[in-house]
Amino acid sequence: MNITIISASPREGRLSLGVAKHLNNKIENSILIDLGEFNIPRFTGFGDTSGDLEQLRETLTKSDAFIIISPEYNGGYPGILKDLIDHCSRETFANKTVGIASVSAGAMAGVRVANHLKDAFFNIQSIVSPRLLMAGNVGERFSTEGKLIDDSFQGQVDSFIESIQWLGNKIKD
Ligand SMILES: Cc1cc2nc3c(=O)[nH]c(=O)nc-3n(C[C@H](O)[C@H](O)[C@H](O)COP(=O)(O)O)c2cc1C
Repeated sequence: MNITIISASPREGRLSLGVAKHLNNKIENSILIDLGEFNIPRFTGFGDTSGDLEQLRETLTKSDAFIIISPEYNGGYPGILKDLIDHCSRETFANKTVGIASVSAGAMAGVRVANHLKDAFFNIQSIVSPRLLMAGNVGERFSTEGKLIDDSFQGQVDSFIESIQWLGNKIKD
């Protein structure tokens, strides 16, 4: 079972990427897509092949499962992730396992974005893993290079990964 990790922050100096790198290092058979490095056009209709969409669709279609690592921006997720979801929709994400990790500089840990993402992926018929990773106070937990600074968070990271792998293997069979 292969997993594609999508880091959804486009921001310069993005801290979400540290979380994504950490998971990517821990998971065998995973790849990391940093949306900040891709050209994803604003959604204006289905079938768009401009920018990096074709390359992204090809990679995502080959994925058995996904981990979405998203910062909370004004209670929601970044526009670049919304565009990706709309461009790819059910054709790419339906019937596949999706794990959701929220990232926030604050103590609330991005609970609102996690809820929005649950609904969005439910709507495109993904199988959303019930175990979330809520990376609050992210700068104190992960370095931008992907090192876990706060050892007390390791258990949550491990449980999150295990639940996606468990579910992903069941769904794939
Ligand atoms: C446009 C914008 C809106 C934000 N809104 C929220 C918010 O609603 N809730 C929150 O906890 N943090 C919010 N933050 C702070 C983020 O939690 C913080 O920037 C975090 O590092 C985001 O992840 P990133 O570094 O990967 O972009 C916001 C940051 C930006 C840039």
